[in-house]
Amino acid sequence: MRHGSCHRDRQPEGRRGKNHDCRQSGRFTGGDGKKTLLIDCDPQANASSGLSIYQDQITENLYSVLFDPQNARKAFVGTELPFLTVLPSAPDLVAADIELVDKPGREFYLRTLIEQVADEFDYILLDCPPSLGLVTLNALCAATEMLVPLQCEYYALEGIAQLLRTYDQVRKRLNPRLKLLGVVLTMYDGRNKLNRHVKREVWKCFPKLYFQTLIPRNIRLSEAPSYGKPVLTHDVKSRGAEAYLSLAQEVVRRQTAA
Ligand SMILES: Nc1ncnc2c1ncn2[C@@H]1O[C@H](COP(=O)(O)OP(=O)(O)OP(=O)(O)O)[C@@H](O)[C@H]1O
Ligand SMILES: [Mg+2]
Repeated sequence: MRHGSCHRDRQPEGRRGKNHDCRQSGRFTGGDGKKTLLIDCDPQANASSGLSIYQDQITENLYSVLFDPQNARKAFVGTELPFLTVLPSAPDLVAADIELVDKPGREFYLRTLIEQVADEFDYILLDCPPSLGLVTLNALCAATEMLVPLQCEYYALEGIAQLLRTYDQVRKRLNPRLKLLGVVLTMYDGRNKLNRHVKREVWKCFPKLYFQTLIPRNIRLSEAPSYGKPVLTHDVKSRGAEAYLSLAQEVVRRQTAA
C-alpha cells in the first residue's frame, strides 16, 4: 500500500492543479481495480467538493477525526466510483494547524490515523494545501511518496526550491521513508515561451524525476469541479483526461520499477 502526498510548491497564488492530480489519480488507480482512499488535507476542501461532497451533507471530516483516529471510518464518504473513498475536509481544519502546535508528536497525527485504515486500501492519496503548515507536515510525515505538480510559471521555480528544502529536512528528521516520486508540469501551453522555458529548467534540474506527461491547460479540466466530477467521468475523451490517464500510467510504471 502506498501513501502518496500530492504536494507542491508554495506559490502565493496557489491553484495549480493539485486537486485535479489527486482526483484523477484516484480515478485511475481505482479503475485499475485498486481500492483508493483520497484524504483531503486542505481546509478549502476543493478535492471534496470536486467529487460532489459538500459541507452541508457531511457531519464528520478530517478535522473531527484527526484527534480521534479510531473513528476515522465514520468520516469516509463513498463516491460514484465504487473503488474510490474520500475522507473529506472542512474549513475547521484551519484550527488543526494551531491545535497541533502544543501536542507531543504533533507531526504524526495523520500517520496514526492512516495506520488505522491502511489495510483496507491499495492507495492512499493525500491532497495537500498550498501552505506548509502543520497539517501539510503531517501529510509529509505520513506519506511514502511525494508527487509535486508544478505550474510552468516563474514563481513555481522559486517555490519548488523551498519545497525541496522542506522535503530534505522531513526526510532527515521525521520521515526517512519519504521519496520524491516526481514533478509533473501542469497547465502547460507549448505556445507560451515562458512555459517552454520553465519546462526546460525543470527537466534540467530533475533529469530523473520529471514526468514525460505534460498536463495541458484544458477547458474540460477547469469546468469539471463545477459539475462535482473528476474529468475522467466529466469528459474522458478530453485532452485533460487523456493527459491524466497518461500521468497515472507513468506513476504506476515508476512505482513498479522502484
Ligand atoms: N490543466 C488545467 N487546465 C485548466 N484548468 C485547470 C487545470 N488544472 C487545474 N485547473 C483549474 O484551476 C483551478 C485550481 O485547480 P486545483 O484546485 O486543482 O489547484 P490546487 O493546486 O489544488 O489549488 P490550491 O493550491 O488552492 O489547493 C480549478 O478551477 C481547476 O479546475
Ligand atoms: Mg488544492
